[in-house]
Amino acid sequence: MAVPPRISIIGLGYVGLTTAVCFASRGLPVSGFDVDIKKTEKIGQGIVHFHEPRVAELLKDSLGREFKISRDMSELGDIIFIAVGTPGKENGSIDLSYLKSATEMLGNALKSQEGYRLVVVKSTVVPETTENAVEPILEASSGKKVGHELGLAMNPEFLREGSAVRDMFEPDRLVIGEYDKRSGDTLEELYRAYYREKMPPLLRTNLVNAEFIKYASNAFLATKISFANSIANIAQRVPGADISVIAKGMGLDARIGERFLNAGLGFGGSCFPKDVKALVAYSERIGYDPLLLSDTEEINTRQPLIALELAKNILGSLKGKKMAILGLSFKPDTDDIREAVSLPIIQAALNEGATITAYDPAAMENVSQVFGNKISYANSALEAIKDADCCVIVTEWDEFRKLRPENFASQMKNSVIVDGRRIFDHDSFEGKVDRFLAIGLGERQS
Ligand code: UGA
Repeated sequence: MAVPPRISIIGLGYVGLTTAVCFASRGLPVSGFDVDIKKTEKIGQGIVHFHEPRVAELLKDSLGREFKISRDMSELGDIIFIAVGTPGKENGSIDLSYLKSATEMLGNALKSQEGYRLVVVKSTVVPETTENAVEPILEASSGKKVGHELGLAMNPEFLREGSAVRDMFEPDRLVIGEYDKRSGDTLEELYRAYYREKMPPLLRTNLVNAEFIKYASNAFLATKISFANSIANIAQRVPGADISVIAKGMGLDARIGERFLNAGLGFGGSCFPKDVKALVAYSERIGYDPLLLSDTEEINTRQPLIALELAKNILGSLKGKKMAILGLSFKPDTDDIREAVSLPIIQAALNEGATITAYDPAAMENVSQVFGNKISYANSALEAIKDADCCVIVTEWDEFRKLRPENFASQMKNSVIVDGRRIFDHDSFEGKVDRFLAIGLGERQS
């Protein structure tokens, strides 16, 4: 492509900013816009407001050059991505208010701007949203017609927290939902310019299928986890059974695959719980009761509390017991505690009268905003387990893997360990601690 297309990104949150700096890193001109002035000021100073490896470095490399912060929308690019948040409402359905207001602002700004523009929805939206909400708002506010002066596409993102930059550089696939051929061609051309000889597999389809692909992918992965957890919960009752081995054996079947079969205390984060709920709510609204997905969610709501059930099998009541919680973030290498399973575990243990000391390498500040001084915070894992009656591994941070059975035995009052993420080799704990329990691990046969 001779002249690279100018890109604009509306919404500089986790997805928007990551996408912006990744495009900019390959020399494409990007302007970024966000209604949150404080956020844009920070980004303008090179500060990234979320925890994501490599984004700050890419921002520093491109800021003021390929990547510019735009104060208003007076100079929009040829291809405009909308990447605003679509949070969940109380009833599980998605809140489209940011998407609608961003689309309206965009339309108003486009009114006076000449030339063909392609508007791309990156935000996660339930099926039919692009056609039934974005398209009419865009047309009404811009006075232009989609299919003529405006193109429209839906291009879901598949970025994982913690490896978002890698996922953008080397995605498994690209999905382009297009209003018409010109819209699809324009976006495909951008990605071909961006990936060059490393173009990932591309699926071009209509808008509604692209919207579905995002939800169906997340719902499938969430279901795979709840499935593994269901088998784990059965296996846990069977002497000699071990979900780690069972999952490994299942995963060797290429049709099943080993990834996302790790049983544990359930999935959290800002995507899976919200997206499964939204798909359930959407499905019910259009007249289908999505039993499998409702169960995926229900299994996941119950799963964290299994950690406490295991502990109570040994300790009896939790009243007055000192519990150490290792790991608070929804997964390792992030400070994000949105829908983290640590939260219901801590709340339930507090309700049952336990005293809690928690440790996490990154998320303690966030958790202290939820529980304040209702729980204690330690400076290290060893400090957290000191004098404890029980220790629950909630998040599989690498540093916890280094703990040895001797550490637990020497630090704890009663060395009862609940491995909620299957990070330890249970055999190595045999006879060295008072009790070693784990999700999906049946009682050992002597
Ligand atoms: C997820 C998807 O993996 C991304 O593809 C998607 O783009 C993103 O949501 C999104 O919709 O934006 P993310 O929420 O960052 O990404 O985290 P994951 O790594 O997928 O983990 C989600 C949760 O599942 C974590 O709590 C993790 O502990 C749990 N999990 C994952 C398991 O319990 N077992 C597994 O085998 C895998």
